[in-house]
Amino acid sequence: MSAPAKILVIHGPNLQLLGTREPKIYGKTTLEEVNQKLSEAAAPLKVTLDFFQSNHEGEMVEKIGTARKEYEGILMNPAAYTHTSVAIRDAVEASGLPTVEVHLSNIYAREEFRRNSLIAPVAIGQISGFGALSYVLGLTALVDRIRSAR
Ligand code: DQA
Repeated sequence: MSAPAKILVIHGPNLQLLGTREPKIYGKTTLEEVNQKLSEAAAPLKVTLDFFQSNHEGEMVEKIGTARKEYEGILMNPAAYTHTSVAIRDAVEASGLPTVEVHLSNIYAREEFRRNSLIAPVAIGQISGFGALSYVLGLTALVDRIRSAR
């Protein structure tokens, strides 16, 4: 039997505020609760997760840059950097790791500037609009892709 896949979960800027940040848009679930839901979903999928949150683009780039050594995939909500960061896009592409982009809100139903994702073209897919469930759906899809590629 092959070893359980290890997945890196990355939360971008301002997501540490979940629970109190614009609850009408992002819901009342805290970041800790999102991570808890992910851990519960990870157990039956037989994968292990590491969590990383940063408000700094460079830190996210560095984390993605070393991910290849330790992880088989990345589940990421790049938050505001989704719409601005060529550096994070390039880091994902360079990592060669299957990456799923997730968003709590439906970025296509909001302001015009949120409708463009620089990350989407280098991700294997994107899930947007289902609150904390976006993460769980994203994890399921990522694990399915990792397993079918093995
Ligand atoms: C977000 C959507 C982004 O546009 C926004 O900047 C965020 C959160 C989401 O999860 O819905 O910070 O990524």
